[in-house]
Amino acid sequence: MKTQITKLFNIQHPIIQGGMHYVGFAELASAVSNAGGLGIITGLTQKTPENLLKEIERCHKLTDKPFGVNLTFLPTVAAPDYPGFIKAIIDGGITIVETAGRNPQEYMPLLKDAGIKVIHKCTSVRHALKAESIGCDAVSVDGFECGGHPGEDDIPNMVLLPCAADKLKIPFVASGGMADGRSLAAALALGAEGINMGTRFIATQEAPVHENVKQAILSASERDTRLVMRPLRNTERVLNNSAVESLLNKEARLGKDIKFEDIIDEVVGVYPKIMTDGDVEKGVWSCGMVAGLIHDIPTCQTLIERIVTEAENIIKDRLSALL
Ligand SMILES: Cc1cc2nc3c(=O)[nH]c(=O)nc-3n(C[C@H](O)[C@H](O)[C@H](O)COP(=O)(O)O)c2cc1C
Repeated sequence: MKTQITKLFNIQHPIIQGGMHYVGFAELASAVSNAGGLGIITGLTQKTPENLLKEIERCHKLTDKPFGVNLTFLPTVAAPDYPGFIKAIIDGGITIVETAGRNPQEYMPLLKDAGIKVIHKCTSVRHALKAESIGCDAVSVDGFECGGHPGEDDIPNMVLLPCAADKLKIPFVASGGMADGRSLAAALALGAEGINMGTRFIATQEAPVHENVKQAILSASERDTRLVMRPLRNTERVLNNSAVESLLNKEARLGKDIKFEDIIDEVVGVYPKIMTDGDVEKGVWSCGMVAGLIHDIPTCQTLIERIVTEAENIIKDRLSALL
């Protein structure tokens, strides 16, 4: 299958693995890229630019295919050393960066001068247009279904994607709720040039996370995610657990007076304990509604081949037969 995204990133299949905190290590990124998709290392999971460079070098040893790095611009007071991380990306020979959070305008000259292609992840058409206007090569449009931060507009992909298609000139991938060949065929029909997946890639053999995390996703239905931090305008879709219930109780009790400091126990520093140690109740962790469509733990190769074959069959057989 050839689309503008496969051409732009020089990959075989239009399937991207979005950056994921404490999941997007070299093992997963290389497995996705070796399977013909685009794997992405999560930049900020590596605490320092030096560590990121080492992770990139590790990934180069595991694949000779293109892979990218995610740079998430967080709403924090003490900003990470973004110029340092970008230098590591350039020194590591990376040619594709997925940005997220704030728009990457400030860093576009650095990235573009180094010949890097930028795909910006955003949750609204206006932010996608902004990304286009500052020179991003593509966007990843994250609908309300998505695991992680869906923004504050709450527009699901069935509406968001065609709205994006009507306005954008640069190619975009559909993100949020994507799991299988039906997702890919639907995304293409709605105007996207491919898909980006987060939650689905956690439940793969190569995802370097604790088995408890994978089993929690397999056990979840489409009704098992919750939105947290909405009163802080930092909404995150997470898998329901005891920490989420505790956080939501605090939100109900404190109302609009709630501050980030009130929820530190549920939110700060919990990812390594969940993803690495497998203590899945330790805090809140991102997960998409798509968990309801995830029932196995395949290799990335099996997953990607299955998605592409299923999408091709839907397009060639089921849809064509309707005409
Ligand atoms: C556990 C987890 C961690 C994530 N961490 C990040 C992150 O650090 N930066 C980022 O840009 N997106 C992050 N995301 C969002 C994903 O890259 C992707 O956009 C999202 O998962 C797509 O929705 P889906 O889960 O329905 O596939 C994360 C998602 C999950 C599930």
